[in-house]
Amino acid sequence: MASKFQAPRGTFDVLPAQARARARLQAIADGIFQRAGYETIQTPSFEQTDPFERGVGKSTDIVRKEMFTFEDKGERSLTLRPEGTAPICRAYLEHGMHKQAQPVKLSYVGPFFRHERPQAGRYRQFHQLGIECIGTASPLADAEVIMLLSDLLGELGVPGVALRLGSLGSLDARAAYLEELKAHLHRHEGDLTPDVRERIDINPLRAFDSDDDRVQGVMASAPTMLEALSGEDAEHFAEVRALLDAAGISYEIDPTLVRGIDYYTRTIFSFVCDALRAQSEIGGGGRYDGLIEQLGGPATPAVGWAAGIERILLALDEEEPGAGRDAFVAIADPEQRGRAMALVTELRNAGFSAEMDLGGRGLKGQLKHADRIGAARVLILEADGSAQLRDMTSGEQRVADTGNLLGEMTGGEA
Ligand code: HAM
Repeated sequence: MASKFQAPRGTFDVLPAQARARARLQAIADGIFQRAGYETIQTPSFEQTDPFERGVGKSTDIVRKEMFTFEDKGERSLTLRPEGTAPICRAYLEHGMHKQAQPVKLSYVGPFFRHERPQAGRYRQFHQLGIECIGTASPLADAEVIMLLSDLLGELGVPGVALRLGSLGSLDARAAYLEELKAHLHRHEGDLTPDVRERIDINPLRAFDSDDDRVQGVMASAPTMLEALSGEDAEHFAEVRALLDAAGISYEIDPTLVRGIDYYTRTIFSFVCDALRAQSEIGGGGRYDGLIEQLGGPATPAVGWAAGIERILLALDEEEPGAGRDAFVAIADPEQRGRAMALVTELRNAGFSAEMDLGGRGLKGQLKHADRIGAARVLILEADGSAQLRDMTSGEQRVADTGNLLGEMTGGEA
């Protein structure tokens, strides 16, 4: 009977078949991160609200509408983390990582929370994995992090992936450009939708994201940050592109690329997958050279990305088959239970996967169950103390010496 309770809206249960697909993804990501020297960091699921307001930005949708914010018993404002970069920068400063050899290269995985309108690929609790390379402004770091996400999606076999690349320039250049953009939007206020008009002065870049035809018309003639890029910013972007070219990574320059977070400077990128339709971004990120200073630390350039685990799995559209078991120990007589448990333990201690019946089935039922869970062999303990080993693929059965169980297991190998 179905319970009247369900997982809250926008959340989901990860069932074993999906957990296996996640474990495969995680193992591939761990290998890539480890080989490139990115070490694991874990931060709490909730943080003080302030780092998100400062870092992600007060004018963003995330801070304005999507944070799960609450007060603790001491009336301190806390927030379920909507993203991982601001907390990692908080931890970088708190633990004096700025005094270590730079850059500090970190990887992470875990749940994140945004109060968004749920739909396929968009949830209120979702999971990201990501990396942050903190303490270097070198374009090599931008190229390295982009290459690692490209490698990950390639190794997983995510189909139809495209990389979009843009640059927002340094903080000063961006501020000057934003004034130009605001002036353009004010000139065309009559053609803008109320939400875009309302945000001209607080978040003009979001106008590029509007799907309204008239707004798109206004944006087609808007100045872009890429055109305004000059000096060291332009050089930095050219070097990132040259490094990606040299690595054979294809990308599309997107002059209107914007992200929903305020801390970005210079390089921004987005990996999209056409199979995902509306929520097509599988992962993305960029450089955030001003964030650590904004959180009270020394000026520290950094770059990173995060990818949505659910979106990757949706794009792959596959579940991992179960692994089966090496052995199942069946009993012909309930008296043999203790012996069966000792043998199962012996097998497990030797590294085999092994199970026995926990449900009080008869011998026939046990054999059926062993078949269902994909046991390669079944050891049948008879009432008289003898034992039989059955190969479940060939159906062959022979007398087995339980005093030499491990030998029987390996000797029985085809
Ligand atoms: P973000 O673009 O907000 O960036 O999120 C990164 C990825 O998380 C998205 O590309 C998407 O795959 C996934 N994602 C975001 N929201 C949802 C949702 N509601 N449901 C399912 N998946 C979602 C960041 O969070 C930055 N911290 C990335 C970064 C790291 N930038 C620099 N370093």
